[in-house]
Amino acid sequence: MRAVTFSQFGGPEVLEVLDLPEREPGPGQVRIRVAAATVNPTDIGFRSGRQSSQSSGLQPPYIPGMELAGVVDAVGPGSDWRPGDRVMAIVIPRRPEGGAMSESVVVPSGSVARVPEGTSLEAAATLPMNGLTVRLALDQLGLKPGETLAVTGAAGAVGGYAVELGVADGLRVIAVAAPSDEALLKKLGAEAVVARGEDAVERIRQLVPGGVDGLIDAAVIGAPILPAVRDGGGLAAVRGFEGETERGIAIHLVRVTEYAENHAALDRLGQLVAQGKLTLRVAETFPPERAGEAHERLAAGGVRGRLVIVF
Ligand SMILES: NC(=O)c1ccc[n+]([C@@H]2O[C@H](COP(=O)([O-])OP(=O)(O)OC[C@H]3O[C@@H](n4cnc5c(N)ncnc54)[C@H](OP(=O)(O)O)[C@@H]3O)[C@@H](O)[C@H]2O)c1
Repeated sequence: MRAVTFSQFGGPEVLEVLDLPEREPGPGQVRIRVAAATVNPTDIGFRSGRQSSQSSGLQPPYIPGMELAGVVDAVGPGSDWRPGDRVMAIVIPRRPEGGAMSESVVVPSGSVARVPEGTSLEAAATLPMNGLTVRLALDQLGLKPGETLAVTGAAGAVGGYAVELGVADGLRVIAVAAPSDEALLKKLGAEAVVARGEDAVERIRQLVPGGVDGLIDAAVIGAPILPAVRDGGGLAAVRGFEGETERGIAIHLVRVTEYAENHAALDRLGQLVAQGKLTLRVAETFPPERAGEAHERLAAGGVRGRLVIVF
């Protein structure tokens, strides 16, 4: 099976396609013939060595990738999936078997859900990891319908799902993004779009003078965005949080690995896609041999929709 791999940490040039032995699914596992896998910021962190402490104990070649879509081609004992099922899955890449960016991937059955009717495998691959991240963030914030949610980085993959899932939960969503993304975010259901930058807090407070009930910080702004949150509200941090909280605001550290086998949550995300309440965005597709180019594109910023490697 062909896989996008790297054997040393470094720039996009360390990525190489290798032919590796295919694995058999064990008890409770399923093997997927992968059609598409996405490139996410965490893959860049893994490849560059920025997150090398999380890779200790693993042997190269490493296989990045945290989400995919494809067709089941083998099942282990105790799995309810059947060969031929069109599925999407979240994958934890820091394991001996590696991540999603491979023609053939074995995952626990609970990491898998059916691809919604009428959805391409390229589009479905963009949902599991970032959709589950937002579901976890919203579950941690525990907001009630009618409450306010601000989302930084709202035009990104996490941010776009945060806007739409927030709306689906009955929240009033304020998106923080570049003015050029306003039309997109209104379409996704944001009640208001606030221009990103140093004045973002002030602009949020103009709209919600007491501060928002919750905030998902997909742009990783950190402590400087806290003043946008009301006393006793909550902030969901997707890449850790440095510094102190203030005014009783709860800081929720979001780690999607907690939901890596939350089949029910992933299935529900698929249903929201089928109902037209969740929008899947593919920016561009690449063959595995051009994965390095996709990494460069994502690192440069400004990508709207996900970059997808198609096998
Ligand atoms: N903890 C977890 O389990 C978990 C899971 C998934 C993702 N994450 C993390 O979540 C973060 C977002 O991921 P992603 O895939 O959504 O990235 P993305 O698609 O690149 O989106 C990030 C967005 O933030 C925008 N942005 C940058 N600075 C901003 C600012 N100051 N104000 C408002 N928007 C700003 C970017 O705009 P430009 O493109 O114009 O720069 C981009 O639209 C990453 O750090 C990722 O590693 C964590």
